[in-house]
Amino acid sequence: MKPTLAVLPGDGIGPEVTDAALAVLQAVRPVEVRFGLVGGAAIDQTGSALPEDTLALCQGADAVLLGAVGGPRWDAGPVRPEQGLLGLRRGLGLYANLRPARHLGLPTPLREELVQGADVLIVRELSSGVYFGTPREQQAEQAVNTWRQTADEVRAVGRVAFEAARTRRGKVTSVDKANVLEASRLWRAVISELAKSYPDVSLEHRYVDAMAFELLQRPRHFDVIVADNLFGDILSDEAGALVGSLGLLPSASLGPGPGLFEPVHGSAPDLAHSGKANPVGAILTVALLLDHGLGEAWAARAVELAVEAALHDERTPDLGGNATTSSFTRAVLRHLEWTRFAARERELEVTGAQWGV
Ligand code: NAD
Ligand code: IPM
Ligand code: MN
Repeated sequence: MKPTLAVLPGDGIGPEVTDAALAVLQAVRPVEVRFGLVGGAAIDQTGSALPEDTLALCQGADAVLLGAVGGPRWDAGPVRPEQGLLGLRRGLGLYANLRPARHLGLPTPLREELVQGADVLIVRELSSGVYFGTPREQQAEQAVNTWRQTADEVRAVGRVAFEAARTRRGKVTSVDKANVLEASRLWRAVISELAKSYPDVSLEHRYVDAMAFELLQRPRHFDVIVADNLFGDILSDEAGALVGSLGLLPSASLGPGPGLFEPVHGSAPDLAHSGKANPVGAILTVALLLDHGLGEAWAARAVELAVEAALHDERTPDLGGNATTSSFTRAVLRHLEWTRFAARERELEVTGAQWGV
């Protein structure tokens, strides 16, 4: 039976990269697709950034694929598109967001010898922290947000990080601002306590400001990086510089039910409808979906191999090339014709995910 996939293309380049991702997914592991509205597209049609039937659609699916939400058109309105995405994360109980970034030999703003071999997995807490704490309000002359963190929330995401480290290089770096914030002091204490249950994994702590520097200065030092909702958001965009473009990064958001799979980048309003959006982040998101949402590791490897091969042929403008979203996607589909057989043959030999998550 075909698994059911809820697909929420969203705004800006969201629909373009979602189309690319879906074409790749259908070529390697056919699914039954059900489309839903989220973000600005949903506001335009229903007035809500997350209509009830969209949430119900996602709750009833095996997995959710999302493009991106947001754009200047809705910035001044009473409802923001981003509320749709945050509501979905909340509604699906998604607490752990995996954001792998691996240098593939592509040009980056950094020196080649510095980024060569960089391979990190950012594990971002997704359900709490300053994103969701109450009270929160904005008045004319002041505004309030609340950074609330419970020990259980830290433990839950911490476990995901330590478990992931066991399948990778056995190292966790926990990021916080414990020299200033109480929520971070709790974070550090809980992660340190949890580490005792993982004696085979090494743990180190960093303050987020120092981490922002060190991630670019010696990226190979890091393996799994675990951070709260806000710091994880910021550091994962920074990881775009390690690989060459924000448009390359995939993500998987996991909870007790269906997972939500989306590229790390946003709706890139500057690129919408130009045909220049890099679909790699969305296509590698399909690999995470195959791994974590559908349990099809061989198909995930086939997609990753096809992307790497296609990147030898052509690249979108963010990587210095002149490929379009659709010409690059066609290149991936061409390579899939052989990588799906190569990956199946190697299936029994695969001991861990190539992307390490
Ligand atoms: P962005 O990620 O959309 O764009 C940042 C820069 O990266 C831009 O220069 C853009 O052109 C480039 N870029 C992003 N994705 C690319 C791709 N696939 N190919 C080539 N270049 C790419 O971030 P922003 O401009 O800060 O935000 C735009 C909107 O997106 C905002 O409304 C924001 O809230 C929203 N946003 C949504 C998500 C999401 O839905 N998951 C994530 C981040 C931002
Ligand atoms: C991301 C985005 C979102 C976040 C926004 C659009 C709500 O930046 O997924 O990285 O901050 O989590
Ligand atoms: Mn972000």
